Amino acid sequence: MSQLDHKSQAWSALFSEPMSDLVKRYTASVFFDQRLWQADIEGSLAHAAMLQRQGVISATDLSSIQQGMAQIRAEIESGGFDWKLDLEDVHLNIEARLTQLAGDAGKRLHTGRSRNDQVATDVRLWLRGEIDLIAQLLLALQRALVTLADQNVEVVMPGFTHLQVAQPVSFGHHMLAYVEMFARDHERLLDVRKRVNWLPLGAAALAGTTYPLDRVSVAQALGMEGVCQNSLDAVSDRDFAIEFTAAAALVMVHISRFSEELILWMSQNFSFIKIADRFTTGSSIMPQKKNPDVPELARGKTGRVVGHLMALITLMKGQPLDYNKDNQEDKEPLFDTVDTLKDTLRIFVEMAAGITVQPQAMEQAALKGYATATDLADYLVKKGLPFRDAHETVAHAVKAAVSHNCDLSELPLAVLQQFNPSIEKDVFDALSLRGSLNARNTLGGTAPAQVRAQIARHRARLG
Ligand code: ARG
Repeated sequence: MSQLDHKSQAWSALFSEPMSDLVKRYTASVFFDQRLWQADIEGSLAHAAMLQRQGVISATDLSSIQQGMAQIRAEIESGGFDWKLDLEDVHLNIEARLTQLAGDAGKRLHTGRSRNDQVATDVRLWLRGEIDLIAQLLLALQRALVTLADQNVEVVMPGFTHLQVAQPVSFGHHMLAYVEMFARDHERLLDVRKRVNWLPLGAAALAGTTYPLDRVSVAQALGMEGVCQNSLDAVSDRDFAIEFTAAAALVMVHISRFSEELILWMSQNFSFIKIADRFTTGSSIMPQKKNPDVPELARGKTGRVVGHLMALITLMKGQPLDYNKDNQEDKEPLFDTVDTLKDTLRIFVEMAAGITVQPQAMEQAALKGYATATDLADYLVKKGLPFRDAHETVAHAVKAAVSHNCDLSELPLAVLQQFNPSIEKDVFDALSLRGSLNARNTLGGTAPAQVRAQIARHRARLG
C-alpha cells in the first residue's frame, strides 16, 4: 500500500496517532483546490521532463509518469476521478493516483520538489490562464460600448456634476468614458500578468534543493517569463494574487459605477434608457415593475470582490518567511474573484448590446437644468467680458429664467439684452443644446467631431 493511500501515514512513522476527522476537514482544501488540477498536471509534467533531462529519473520513469498523467487527466475530465478528503489537497490526490498507476515512477515525481513550490506554481499557472480570459472579456466589453457610442454620438444628454445638471454631453461621449476605464483595467491586468508569470518550482520547501535542477528550462517549457530568484520569496509571497484581486476590484468598481447609472437611467424619473427584457425581472407583487436586477447585483458583487482583496491582503500581512499554511486560504477568495468577474463581464458584454437609448427624454432633461449657462458665459467672454463678470451676469439670467419657468434659450432677446447689451441674436446658437455640444471641440471634449475621432481611435486599437 502506498504511503499516500492513508493520510494518517502520509508523513512517515513519526506520527503516533491519526489526524482527527475534524482536523482533516479543517485542513483539507481538495474540495476547492481541485480546480487547479490542469495546472498541477502541467507543472508536474514539466518538472518530470526536466528531472529526466538532468538524469535524476530515467526515461522509462518519465514515460510512466506521462502515461499515468494522461489517464488521470481523462478521469478528471470524465468526472470519474475519486477525490479523497483524506488526501487533503489537489496535489496529494493526483500524486497518490499517479503512484497507483505508475508505481515507483509516480513516487519519484516529487524529487526536488515540495508542495510549497508546487502550489505556488499551480496558482500562478492557473491565474495566468484566467487573466487571459478576463482580458478578452474586457476587450469585448469595450467593443460593445464603442458600438453603443457610435450609434449615439449625436444624442444629447445632461452631463452631471454632483448629480446636478451641468452641461450637455453626447451620450456616445458618456459611453466612451467607460471605454477609457475598461481600457486601463485591461492594461493593468496585462501588467499584473507579467508578475504572475514567474516560476517558483525549484525553490522546493523553502531553501532550494540538492538535485541538479534546470529551473530555467522548466520556466521556458511552461511559457513563463522567468524563474523566481529567491527560494524563500518564491514559496511564501502571494503579492501576485493580491495585485490581481486589486485590479479585479477596480474593474468591478467601474462596473458598479456603470451599473448605478443604468439603474438611475432606467427609473421612470429619468427614462433615459431601456434594457432588454431578458436582463430585467418582474416583481412578485407589483405587476407594472421591470427591475434592473443585473446591474444591481453587479453593484452588490463589487462589495464581494473588494472584500476578497481585503481578505488576501490581511492574510499576507502577519506572515513570517517562508511558507505558512495560511496561504491555503488564498484560494477561495481568488477563485471567487475570478468567477464573479468573468460572469459579470460576460453579462455586461451582452447587456450593453441590449441597451436602447431614449433621446427625447435625455434632451428634455438637459433642457431642464440650465445646462447651457456656461455657454452664455463663454458667449459674453467672446464679446469682451472677463470670465468672472460673465459668470455673474449669467447667474442673473438664470434667475430670470427660473422665475419665468423657462430655459435660457426661451428668454426673449430683449430680456437677455437687459443683462448685457452686447448680446445679439446669434446667442441662441450658443444656447441650444447642439450648439453647446458642437462648441466643445477640444481634444477629449464632447463635440461630435471629437467623439467620432475617439471612436475611430478605439476601433483601430480594439480591432
Ligand atoms: N494545500 C496547500 C496550500 O494550498 C499546499 C501546500 C501545503 N504545504 C505544506 N507544507 N503543508 O497552500
